[in-house]
Amino acid sequence: MNVLPPVITIDGPTASGKGTVAHRVASALGWGVLDSGALYRLTALSVLRQQIDPQDAAAVAQVANTLDVVFHPDGILLNGLEVAEDIRQEQVGNLASQIAPNPALRAALLSRQRAFRTLPGLVADGRDMGTVVFQDAPLKIFLVADVSARAQRRCKQLIEKGISANLADLLSDMRERDARDIQRTVAPLIAAPGAHVVDSSNLTIDQTVQAILDLWSGVTG
Ligand code: C5P
Repeated sequence: MNVLPPVITIDGPTASGKGTVAHRVASALGWGVLDSGALYRLTALSVLRQQIDPQDAAAVAQVANTLDVVFHPDGILLNGLEVAEDIRQEQVGNLASQIAPNPALRAALLSRQRAFRTLPGLVADGRDMGTVVFQDAPLKIFLVADVSARAQRRCKQLIEKGISANLADLLSDMRERDARDIQRTVAPLIAAPGAHVVDSSNLTIDQTVQAILDLWSGVTG
């Protein structure tokens, strides 16, 4: 029998803490991790650098099809150049969310994402991990947090990295991006059927990670 490696999907809005939580859950279980947003951001960065028209759906999908990406323990190489910090810029995240509704782009990234599903298991974070990419995942999490808590977290993160940030601008960008991700017709941000909704507004990272590990114990136990 061909049993696929287990996957825990963690979907949710921007800055809900998905990335950090996904890495921590993965390391507690000794599993791999897929930051699917990074693939959308890498495509957006390439679109910017190659000066491609973001409205040109076929050209954007072609960029995704031919992305030369290496994820390594200390960062991400795009065409041999380190870009882990560049893709975190707000401009890149905003463009990622503008190109993300493109069905040809999403199709181009599907097999790349599924290729991360290797033993002993995968924690995959994004918007459509539970609804589209890993529909058969044995545990699906929908991680939410209040928009002002998320904007404050993002502001703190950017300032810690030495990147200038303005809370009011972040809050309005985040509301716009949430609306785009929720309202789009292709793979909208929505809890998958059977997903457990975890609200991290008043939880520490440790508590959020523990809540997910407890849910996983419930699945395996
Ligand atoms: O998660 P992150 O903020 O890095 O993702 C950037 C953008 O990429 C999101 O705003 C969303 O529009 C898009 N995205 C997506 N599907 C995913 C992951 C990210 O559409 N699975």
